[in-house]
Amino acid sequence: MVAYLGTKATAAMVARIGPGEFTQALADRIERDFRRWPEFETSARLASHSARGVIELMPTSDGRRYAFKYVNGHPANTQEGLLTVTAFGVLADVATGYPLLVSEMTLLTAIRTAATSAMAARTLAREGASRMALIGAGAQAEFQAIAFHRVCGVARIDVFDPDRRAVARLQTNLAGLAGLEIAPAASAAEACQHADIITTATAAKSRAAVLTRGMVKRGVHINAIGGDCPGKTELERDVLEGARIFVEYAPQTRIEGEIQQLPPDAPVTELWRVLRGEAQGRRNADEITLFDSVGFAIEDFSALEMAHEVAARLGAAAALDLVPQLADPKNLFGLLTDAVGVFHKGIDERHGFVGQDAQADAICAP
Ligand SMILES: NC(=O)c1ccc[n+]([C@@H]2O[C@H](COP(=O)([O-])OP(=O)(O)OC[C@H]3O[C@@H](n4cnc5c(N)ncnc54)[C@H](O)[C@@H]3O)[C@@H](O)[C@H]2O)c1
Repeated sequence: MVAYLGTKATAAMVARIGPGEFTQALADRIERDFRRWPEFETSARLASHSARGVIELMPTSDGRRYAFKYVNGHPANTQEGLLTVTAFGVLADVATGYPLLVSEMTLLTAIRTAATSAMAARTLAREGASRMALIGAGAQAEFQAIAFHRVCGVARIDVFDPDRRAVARLQTNLAGLAGLEIAPAASAAEACQHADIITTATAAKSRAAVLTRGMVKRGVHINAIGGDCPGKTELERDVLEGARIFVEYAPQTRIEGEIQQLPPDAPVTELWRVLRGEAQGRRNADEITLFDSVGFAIEDFSALEMAHEVAARLGAAAALDLVPQLADPKNLFGLLTDAVGVFHKGIDERHGFVGQDAQADAICAP
């Protein structure tokens, strides 16, 4: 049977491990997988754009396991009580092609995005960075806060979101997290005033400029996660021009990231090269570094593989009847004959199946 992790099972599993511990372990695993980047198949994700949003497929394989994620991004959804981002994914065995795990990935995406953000910041931010500005307090906010607190030692987060209820929710949800202070700010500029790290996590299907050059002090590390689609950016172009830019996979980020605002040959560094010691990260304490994050398939691969392993150890997954289990693998039709009597009235000796639902034509009609 294929393992199945729904939203409740995933939440229970993460809660049992502890969100901080789970995020830390995933950040370490993503870093480990980024260090073996050349072993993976890489391609820009397949995006289907519409007026309201985007639906994307994100596949990769390391030759042993194959993974893909289905994810959407619909910024106006929250006005209808729906999430901006939802996702699910599959982990499969390359040797047989059989799926091993079908998992919700709405929670896992939030955790892996935060884990990747924090892993990038631990690589690129100035030593001793402990104060973060968070612009945008939506669904990703708690996960980003926990990851930066746990992985990077951030002790104070100054938050700005025009939706005050969102900021209050963030404060309430993380009230019990010792060693992390969350302070509401009156504006994005105020939030950034004393920041070592700036995270932008807003959602609008537009060319926004929630972060302008004047808000970014020397030596700051910027973690930009909300600009992740053509025509959907958060940073003023001047911010990009004043920063050293790091990305996940340049061919995808040039289409979707903040750098879509720059010429197609603007210099960027893929983070995995820094992690492997093949490229320079931060060069001095004054440099402004920018992680232009759009989300890449290897991060989902890491999340699915970890979820699969942890769920197996905890017995957290359910069994999903997704692939037939046959005594004779050539007798696929046997599944139907076994089902006779359940869905059909019987088998006529001369004509095979009889007694199909009288409404069959109507039921199958388009
Ligand atoms: N890079 C990645 O891997 C990755 C992964 C997941 C989500 N995302 C993106 O991150 C962004 C946030 O996702 P989410 O699920 O939290 O969305 P969300 O809709 O739940 O929250 C967005 C928040 O931004 C706030 N906001 C809007 N304009 C603002 C402004 N000018 N200043 C401050 N706050 C503002 C909104 O009030 C809202 O609370 C989205 O754009 C999403 O597409 C990126």
